Amino acid sequence: MKKIQISPSILAADFSILGQEIKKLEQGGADMIHVDVMDGHFVPNLTIGPPVIKSLRKYTNLPFDVHLMISPVHKYIKDYAEAGADIITIHPEATKNILDSINHIKNLKKKVGISLNPNTEIKTVLNYLEQIDLILVMTVYPGFGGQKFMPEIVKKIKDINKIKKEKNLNFDIEVDGGINFSNSKIVIEAGANILVSGTTVFKENNGNLKKNIETLKLT
Ligand code: DX5
Ligand code: ZN
Repeated sequence: MKKIQISPSILAADFSILGQEIKKLEQGGADMIHVDVMDGHFVPNLTIGPPVIKSLRKYTNLPFDVHLMISPVHKYIKDYAEAGADIITIHPEATKNILDSINHIKNLKKKVGISLNPNTEIKTVLNYLEQIDLILVMTVYPGFGGQKFMPEIVKKIKDINKIKKEKNLNFDIEVDGGINFSNSKIVIEAGANILVSGTTVFKENNGNLKKNIETLKLT
């Protein structure tokens, strides 16, 4: 089994001091930094783009796990790669040709992730499993932090893990949305090895990042 990693989402951080927040996450034991990029079109919310990511790059050496919720995504991929993304995750609905976008990310020497919305079926990515580094399983409809975890998605995590084992593949299974101390164990047992968390990491235990990151890993 892969080591469990926590990818805190800076969507729940104080945006006026993002650099310091990222430093604190690193000190608190975060394994990577989850950056939610939203365009107000693919999802009904707007966040940050490449210039902000570029300016945050100097605050940590942790990998930037960039979740692109933008459409059309393909023409912007290079900008995120150059801004300092290490993992670039896209939604299949946001590109005309998934394989072209996957190859584009790989040619830029970045890890490639594909994200499945709650209503996106596994078969959408079945042909690309050999090519990708990560599947990001959404456990909420993307757009906002602080939403309620959808327990019905646990089966999807299990199904993906089963296919992964059957095909003897090595991609990461990351979960995103409403992850907390009571469901972290459930998603880990289902096969997830990277947990995204915004609200739980930043708000529980009076914002004790270290304790929250540790608790998510161990529960
Ligand atoms: C949702 C984002 C998530 C979100 C997670 O659209 O992709 O990464 O920020 O935040 P919490 O943990 O609060 O659900
Ligand atoms: Zn996300």
